[in-house]
Amino acid sequence: MRALTVIGNWKMNGSVRSNRDWMHLVIEDMQQGMPAGRRFGVCVPFPYLQDCSAHLAGSQLLLGAQDVSAYASGAYTGEVSASMLEEMGVRFVIVGHSERRMQYGEANESIALKAEQALDHELIPIICVGETADERNSGRAVEVVRRQVASQVSTLQDRLVDCLIAYEPIWAIGTGKVASAQMAQDMHQAIRLQLAEFDDDVASHIGIIYGGSVRADNATELFAMPDIDGALVGGASLDAKEFLAICRS
Ligand code: 13P
Repeated sequence: MRALTVIGNWKMNGSVRSNRDWMHLVIEDMQQGMPAGRRFGVCVPFPYLQDCSAHLAGSQLLLGAQDVSAYASGAYTGEVSASMLEEMGVRFVIVGHSERRMQYGEANESIALKAEQALDHELIPIICVGETADERNSGRAVEVVRRQVASQVSTLQDRLVDCLIAYEPIWAIGTGKVASAQMAQDMHQAIRLQLAEFDDDVASHIGIIYGGSVRADNATELFAMPDIDGALVGGASLDAKEFLAICRS
């Protein structure tokens, strides 16, 4: 059985004060009891890792980061290594988010190296894939996502089983245009079938989560799909109550 995983991605939002208010609300609410067999996490900006780590210690909410260096250490100004994240108590790290692919030119090869670094330090990489509106409208969505996934398979091989894949159609991110549950399911199934061509064990055990305008009012339908193993939640995760409602969906 794959655990349902719900992870918030705060992106470049927050402040020490508002983060603490958010964590206080979420931790207290989660102490009332959460549905069994689920994992919850939140990916915060680098400067807040230490403070969030201290506040989340002992809670049901795992700490995540939003990026990691493709290198172990050295002369890489501005980069943050996987060992630094491990030291901060980080459990998840997003790699290859579409905002980084599009605005910072991240390519499949460096994304796979980042995932490798994360795995070397016991972090769970959340590898993001997804197509643009143009690619979907021209019938190339599956082909584009297959290429992104294939590149990860060729580098990570069966270590992929320790990663999460996040299918985040770019046209659904921050737009309020969620993919229909069936559309998301179809892509998740296509990814799983592609992975099965490589290794049945990886295909059946890897968690494939959905991201793109997930809210409390569409999460239940998404989570009911057989190949959707949770969500990566952007905007809605900034609101503690909305995030909790998604976690309980
Ligand atoms: P939204 O939930 O704001 O659409 O963002 C999705 C996302 O990019 C999560 O990583």
